[in-house]
Amino acid sequence: MALISLRQLLDHAAEHGYGLPAFNVNSMEQILSVMEAARKVDAPVILQASRSARSYATDAMLRHMVQAAVELYPGIPIVLHHDHGNGVESCRSAMENGFTSVMMDGSLEEDGKTPTAYAYNVRITAKVAELAHTAGASVEGELGCLGSLETGFGEAEDGHGAEGKLTHEQLLTDPEQARDFVLATKVDALAVAIGASHGAYKFTRPPTSEVLAIHVVKAIHALLPNTHLVMHGSSTVPEELRDIINAFGGDMPPTWGVPVAEIQEGIKHGVRKVNIDTDGRMAITGQFRKVAMEKPGEFDPRAFMKPARAALEALCVQRYEEFGAAGMASRIRPIPLSEMAARYASGTLDPQGTVVTG
Ligand code: G3H
Ligand code: 13P
Ligand code: ZN
Repeated sequence: MALISLRQLLDHAAEHGYGLPAFNVNSMEQILSVMEAARKVDAPVILQASRSARSYATDAMLRHMVQAAVELYPGIPIVLHHDHGNGVESCRSAMENGFTSVMMDGSLEEDGKTPTAYAYNVRITAKVAELAHTAGASVEGELGCLGSLETGFGEAEDGHGAEGKLTHEQLLTDPEQARDFVLATKVDALAVAIGASHGAYKFTRPPTSEVLAIHVVKAIHALLPNTHLVMHGSSTVPEELRDIINAFGGDMPPTWGVPVAEIQEGIKHGVRKVNIDTDGRMAITGQFRKVAMEKPGEFDPRAFMKPARAALEALCVQRYEEFGAAGMASRIRPIPLSEMAARYASGTLDPQGTVVTG
């Protein structure tokens, strides 16, 4: 099966009431784990690469590895998405390298640190949407800044995130402004800020609605019932994975992520794409540490990679099932990007998310 656009996949998810985990990948091992999990449960796949993933792996390697996945798993529709594009150029180069979808994160300036003015966000996101839609690719925009409602700070542990203290208004997407933004930019999906931040240290205790504002998702969905919403920072940070890391020499203090039940509540209210990176990193790292401690004489990297791949695969299977994506891959008939481009040109795909069947 060919690569498909994010828009086609999220329209299918909306039509059938499910959500899709979007897994961040940087390597062959991560791609194979996600794909093998998807094959096991017949789930469609979103593989996403950040700017640092693209510089770590190189676009050429990512492009060819994803093409290999297409060849190895012909029954699984795959979206290749650029996570947190920081301007027209990062989005344009992603599309030139075979990405079928891009995120234009105009909530921050190109430095990935400075919160922007609303007018800038609209202008740059609309520009990327125009460019992408001509090629049939999809665009995710972001309104509001990711960060913690507990502390007021974004996180910079992976080099991307607002710097300095953010106001409550910056940390929560405004529903009325979201409606204006979607209509003005013509994005296919909207990432919302609800208090979830990137990384492992999201909440210091199990999150309540004070710090994880699912009610904001509901309010946005009520105003934009056909717009596909995206939750970033949606790792659950499972205690079991932290325990493995700590049992084998790690030192991760107690911390909480976004509970699966909250994500499922979001899925009932328009969330279609759920970004997960940290949980996968923890699954992999725990196994690396375990092998390193239990077999100090081991020096074949595959002895580390194999259990790490299995742990990531198990996590992915779990999320596909929990979000309702299992069993959906075989129900999707791929729409070529050229056909998507024609639909955008004819106005069939309005920003309100006209459902594409197939
Ligand atoms: O944007 C956040 C993702 O976890 C990607 O992280 O930039 O370290 O690849 P990264
Ligand atoms: P986590 O750090 O919670 O996995 O979030 C990843 C993400 O939002 C990537 O864009
Ligand atoms: Zn993100």
